[in-house]
Amino acid sequence: MSSSVQKHKCENPFPQVLQRMFSIFYDYKNPLDNLHELLESSFFTLDQKQYHKHLHEWTKDRNSIFVKRFHEYVDKYTHFNETYYEFIRKNILPLFPEETHIVVQKTPNIRFSLPDNAAIGYDKKDPDNIIGLHCDSDFGHHHTEMNFIIPITPMFESNSIYHETHPDSNTNPHDFENLKLETNEFAQAYFNKIHHCNRINKTGKTRISFDIRIIPYSKYQNHIEEFKGTKFELGNYYIVL
Ligand SMILES: [Fe+2]
Repeated sequence: MSSSVQKHKCENPFPQVLQRMFSIFYDYKNPLDNLHELLESSFFTLDQKQYHKHLHEWTKDRNSIFVKRFHEYVDKYTHFNETYYEFIRKNILPLFPEETHIVVQKTPNIRFSLPDNAAIGYDKKDPDNIIGLHCDSDFGHHHTEMNFIIPITPMFESNSIYHETHPDSNTNPHDFENLKLETNEFAQAYFNKIHHCNRINKTGKTRISFDIRIIPYSKYQNHIEEFKGTKFELGNYYIVL
């Protein structure tokens, strides 16, 4: 069976946005996929450096200094949301031709996979050399959600995501497909039910990417399942575009 992950070409504004962000915060002007070199500089405390040198359990994997900086940037510079929503209107809304509106995750998740680490936390039940095996419905996400992955640096081999080709495939995670994305494309996948995971990044290159969730407006239900304090509902987790 062919993969149910679809790739779409796009003009991707986010590498430039992130380059600007790292320039503002750290005067960093080198390629984003060398970001791990920035981490060695005196901008960072020992704890902040150490955080990126170890794997973390999945509930404790959101304390990266880079993730915090991103959220500071989004709060401070309104152009981020303008760019984000424009990108979605232009590139993702047309993928739902039956819909006049779509329900969109208000702020994208940003992922950093640094060399010898992974972008997500591990689960104690993970098989050897597999990091964070899950599908999003495991974490309370609603089955009407579709996932979109937007690369900020090229995604390939072990800096990227591995996924089964379709839900309930029973594929051994070591045989999952590797998601390869250049920065002029993005991926659409039903990761709500398709298992996916990371591996230890052995590429020597940092991967940065966004992942977002979108629900066709006609399928949106005001589901109030709560998970770890995040309410998956309009105005809170999602907005309508
Ligand atoms: Fe996921």
